[in-house]
Amino acid sequence: MPACGGAGSDEAGPAGSVRPPSRPTPEQQARAAALLTGPDWYRHAVFYEVNVRSFQDSNGDGIGDLPGLVSRLDYLKDLGVDALWLMPIMPSPFADSGYDVADYRAIEPAYGTMADFERLMSEAKARGMRVLIDLVLNHTSDAHPWFQESRKDKTNAKANWYVWSDTAGREDIGCGTNGSTFGDSAWELEPAREQYYFHRFYPGQPDLNYREPEVAKEMLDTTRFWLDKGVDGFRCDVVGLLFETATSCSLVPETIEYIKSIRQIVDGYADRAMVAEPVELTNATPYFGGGEDMFHMAFDFAYGYFWGIAFASGDRRIIEEAMATASAFPAGAQDALVIGSHDVLRAWQTAGNDAERYRGAALLQMTMRGTPFIYYGEEVALRPGAATPIDIRDTSRTPMTWTRDGAGHGFTTGTPWLPFGEAPGDTSVEAEDADPDSMLSFYRSLLALRRGHAVWGSGSSRLLPLDDRGIVAFVREDEAESYLVAVNLAREPREGTATASLPGRGRVVLGQGSLATAGDAVTVKLPESGYAVFQLRP
Ligand code: GLC
Ligand code: CA
Repeated sequence: MPACGGAGSDEAGPAGSVRPPSRPTPEQQARAAALLTGPDWYRHAVFYEVNVRSFQDSNGDGIGDLPGLVSRLDYLKDLGVDALWLMPIMPSPFADSGYDVADYRAIEPAYGTMADFERLMSEAKARGMRVLIDLVLNHTSDAHPWFQESRKDKTNAKANWYVWSDTAGREDIGCGTNGSTFGDSAWELEPAREQYYFHRFYPGQPDLNYREPEVAKEMLDTTRFWLDKGVDGFRCDVVGLLFETATSCSLVPETIEYIKSIRQIVDGYADRAMVAEPVELTNATPYFGGGEDMFHMAFDFAYGYFWGIAFASGDRRIIEEAMATASAFPAGAQDALVIGSHDVLRAWQTAGNDAERYRGAALLQMTMRGTPFIYYGEEVALRPGAATPIDIRDTSRTPMTWTRDGAGHGFTTGTPWLPFGEAPGDTSVEAEDADPDSMLSFYRSLLALRRGHAVWGSGSSRLLPLDDRGIVAFVREDEAESYLVAVNLAREPREGTATASLPGRGRVVLGQGSLATAGDAVTVKLPESGYAVFQLRP
């Protein structure tokens, strides 16, 4: 059975480009179900990052919530999503969009109740979908009762739970003098205690002191609490920052040991997975440890945050370096591939408002070796917003648009907590669903191409070193099949040649382009901003 439907069943896309069927076959679905069973499920899953606050409101208060998310699970399932990563869902004053947690064992009231969360888990499970939650270990909210107690004086029961100093700096904390990630000093004076506390992020996010055994134990118990609730794993926020030393604050040996103890707990439950948010953007290798003792996955920011530069410069080197780094990961490690997130620009902006570049970037995300994480709204190419009530990153956190018309665009019957981004009607699911040339239709085809084909999640990857650096091309292969993926980063037709041997002649199963072999020379031709997936074998 060919990968994407038999000969003749491919639909002709715009300008002669091939678009595979937008829905997988029942046979693909059956193979996908098998791949998604057992401990390696996450290698074959398509993840979706949900900003619960902006996804679907159910009670008209303008704030997305868990019952709202439940009502959209069928949409996600139909899109081809296998697993969710929920941005923080715990009670929070929202100084940093929930990354300032005030209670680690409860649900943010605006999002619902613990019963709503349990219902989400069972509804996801009923659809064969998994749920990872965001775990913010490095810091709490300053509203957390622990901090409220710790800040009172130097002798209370939680006095040592945070990182305190008599001066705005400490010699044993090397990074503490360089300011916080969000600018300004990383030390804030607490008048009641007459001491400063350390915060790597906003002043409302005091860093926990992991050298205090009770803190270390409490947070391990928190991971158990959520695993017992049935979560399928965690996205671990800035997890490299837990411990500080005089010379480094990033993934120091104590932090590595702590991560390993989390992994041991997670391994005590069947089929769970953890994904790391690395601190350094260009090389996630240290987050994998020996390959089986730290994270299952880590975000590949080397591609995810910098792909726009490759397209803007028409030069593949950034992507090539990201792929080379990932290919040197220890055995067992799995790359987590993104083109955007709640922390960076909307992919639409990164692509320079260019739909073809956007498609090329998404195609790479779905076909490079690893597990893709779609940020909500990327499938409809949600545009940026303008309002920034919390911080500048709000431009990429606007509410999802479901319907073309209506003030609330199907997101809410009230007033959305954050205004919609540009062109909300045009980028609504309703409008794009009806348009075979929309971004949504493209995503459906991409995910249908992947579905049930192990090669994308776990097959080998080999760069094709074409002499034109404007084209990024690579071969993906396993026992069953081989593909060649090629993306033209340039806004003009390109052609590149490399010395290589391919396992077959190839036919285009997605996109548009040509592949020719003569002796040991392989030549790839692509139209401007074009892309093609060639099926080489079987
Ligand atoms: C991570 C989150 C980001 C947050 C920061 C502090 O980088 O992705 O949104 O501001 O951690 O928790
Ligand atoms: Ca609501």
